[in-house]
Amino acid sequence: MTSLPVDDDLIEHVRGLRDEMTRFLAEYRFGMREIETKMSILREDFEHAHAYNPVENVSCRLKSPDSIAEKVARKGIEPDLESIRAQITDIAGVRVTCSFVRDVYRLFELLVSQDDVTVREVKDYIANPKPNGYKSLHAIVEVPVFLSTGTVHVPVEVQFRTIAMDFWASLEHKIYYKYDKQVPTRLTDSLREAAITAAELDARMESLHREIHGEHAAPVAPLRTLPSGRASHA
Ligand code: GTP
Ligand code: MG
Repeated sequence: MTSLPVDDDLIEHVRGLRDEMTRFLAEYRFGMREIETKMSILREDFEHAHAYNPVENVSCRLKSPDSIAEKVARKGIEPDLESIRAQITDIAGVRVTCSFVRDVYRLFELLVSQDDVTVREVKDYIANPKPNGYKSLHAIVEVPVFLSTGTVHVPVEVQFRTIAMDFWASLEHKIYYKYDKQVPTRLTDSLREAAITAAELDARMESLHREIHGEHAAPVAPLRTLPSGRASHA
């Protein structure tokens, strides 16, 4: 096999692209860390103030360059960083798993009411579950990140859900990929039923909890999404 001559300019160009991508993704990682810190402060403070921890788990993930590229192709987005920045809002993702549905809305409110958090979009799949049974509260929020070169506002997708919703979603995700997105009807029916069972379990555990810790268990009104994308309680 004959080797091609090394083109130094091309190598420099590719290195430049790589560095640009690294800096681009770093902004999202910083934004994600800010949300993660906010959630851990809320978690700790809630525990001190109410002797109760409403957060079961907080996890973060940064979209890989491969899955960004896949989404760019799938959605027909121009393959440049500015278009990606404007149109892909789930490069940084934070998932907050709460004990009960009431905590999901409570934590969401506590996050979005912070002065430096701007809500871009809210999808309440708890009030309006997806046809397959999927439930979670999704918010795209923007946080400022203070870099040495200036301030950037970074979108972070935050998903709030209960442990039962999380259990359902992770199993559904595995089944979806195992069957390469062509899940047999028997299984989709069964998953829909399982989502109802999970919601019943949520309601039952929450009512048990309320019986034991009545004073911390004020009911929360369902979410109302305002035209601006901001959400508030009805
Ligand atoms: P994407 O283009 O895939 O990001 O969808 P979208 O922009 O319509 O966003 P949506 O809020 O519907 O979903 C975003 C994320 O929520 C997904 O990447 C999953 O993590 C999760 N999600 C949404 N729907 C489902 C579902 O039916 N099952 C599971 N397991 N997860 C889901
Ligand atoms: Mg998404």
